[in-house]
Amino acid sequence: MNALVINGPNINMVGIREPNIYGRETYDDLVRICKEAGNEFGFDDVEVFQSNHEGSIIDRIQDAYGTVDGIVINPAAYTHTSIGILDALKAVSIPAVEVHISAVDEREDFRQVSYAGMACFARVAGEGLAGYRHALQLLADHLK
Ligand code: DQA
Repeated sequence: MNALVINGPNINMVGIREPNIYGRETYDDLVRICKEAGNEFGFDDVEVFQSNHEGSIIDRIQDAYGTVDGIVINPAAYTHTSIGILDALKAVSIPAVEVHISAVDEREDFRQVSYAGMACFARVAGEGLAGYRHALQLLADHLK
């Protein structure tokens, strides 16, 4: 069983960007949390991918077809705009969990729509980077 964690634009800047919202832990911490959670929840492999480019995220989702058992995705700002990412998730039909570091539900109106979330079976938000561990736990439970 393997998982792919996909991060959208500016997630590589966690620890630096708006620490009052996203915390002080870094992207390296995010990767470590995902790898440790992978071991904890019985994944053979967890790949952690990040891109600032919508098309690259769509390419990575398409490439996951037939090789990846489950996806955890934080599309970041593309959450609220990208029908292309939604369509890619639907196209590959890989079970997916949406994750957000911040409590998006309690933030600006423009963050209240999630297109990618429409192709995900669960959502984790507002748990900081620990939310990635939670999302991988939900994914493992779903795949077993
Ligand atoms: C985010 C929330 C998005 O609204 C925002 O654009 C991000 C990060 C989060 O993890 O809380 O870049 O996805």
